[in-house]
Amino acid sequence: MTDTRPALLVLHGPNLNLLGTREPHIYGHHTLEAINSQLASLAETLQCSVTCQQSNHEGQLIDWLQQARGRYQGVVLNAAGLTHTSVALRDTIAAIGVPVVECHLSNIHAREAFRHHSYTAAVCLGVVAGFGPQSYHLALRALVDHIRAA
Ligand code: DQA
Repeated sequence: MTDTRPALLVLHGPNLNLLGTREPHIYGHHTLEAINSQLASLAETLQCSVTCQQSNHEGQLIDWLQQARGRYQGVVLNAAGLTHTSVALRDTIAAIGVPVVECHLSNIHAREAFRHHSYTAAVCLGVVAGFGPQSYHLALRALVDHIRAA
């Protein structure tokens, strides 16, 4: 039987592999593995499939975004520090024609001024920030609703 469930990609950027031990007062105590496993459970509930990938490398994230075309109906992206620096990631999101939801664990607008600007937000469907791991859950739900409504 063909799988008609929406296929979603979750991309985690630099340093998110360190979650659990990385500045826990900001990012909490959940590991990336724990977040990915929560997303897998949520995907069951939402009747979609989810693939989670992490890279510390901008080019790898760009490759995965480009490859999302034709394979995934939507992407949740936490580009981490690259959010605030990467014109190239923004250009990729604008080029691929796949809806991308930007996601952050912390509220970037309540932090240092250099985090207030996102190069990627304007080419994303929307942004969720400040809810810890729940930011990813909310982003996934919003993306699934968007895809089903389209
Ligand atoms: C982050 C916020 C970014 O400013 C920071 O560079 C990160 C994580 C977040 O999830 O809160 O690495 O994207």
